[in-house]
Amino acid sequence: MMDRKSRPNIGLIGFMASGKTVVGNALATKLQLYFIDTDTVIAEKAGKSIPEIFAADGEDIFRKLENEVIQEVCRLDSHVISFGGGAVLSQTNVKTIQENTTVILLTALTDTIRSRIGSSNFRPLLNGNSATQEENISSLLAKREVQYRAATDFIIDTDDKSVKEIVDELVRRLQH
Ligand code: S3P
Repeated sequence: MMDRKSRPNIGLIGFMASGKTVVGNALATKLQLYFIDTDTVIAEKAGKSIPEIFAADGEDIFRKLENEVIQEVCRLDSHVISFGGGAVLSQTNVKTIQENTTVILLTALTDTIRSRIGSSNFRPLLNGNSATQEENISSLLAKREVQYRAATDFIIDTDDKSVKEIVDELVRRLQH
């Protein structure tokens, strides 16, 4: 793998609602980099929202689109890139992300994720009543934990921290 400092972008990975988009935006502003979010690019390409893609086309088509978009955005430089929570499910994606970004994993506990998601229904994999939602979050988290950790250069825990605190911690870590 290339030396971390020679990679052209910063990549944020982690579970849904771990803060990738909000933290990514703030980090890009602070470091005077551009910001891009893979879900936004996917929705633009498909001409429909992420829940609409899942409902009309299914998860497999979504993952195909996601893989294409990951290859595209990783060719950019000077970007903070926020990857969808399932980006690490493909080894090809992980390799591309690692080659082109310094990879940061944002973590959060199930309770934190639940309270951030609230009743929004923008995440098709977590739809359902609150009991099933909790169950879905913890089982998906457990299933993906190893993949998140294996893909990352370093980890920032986001529980009980403000966006500013997280960004400041990130900037400190990036300097080392
Ligand atoms: C997904 C995460 C979502 C989105 C899609 C699937 C996942 O992105 O890509 O709903 O599999 O974890 P966020 O992590 O930005 O919510």
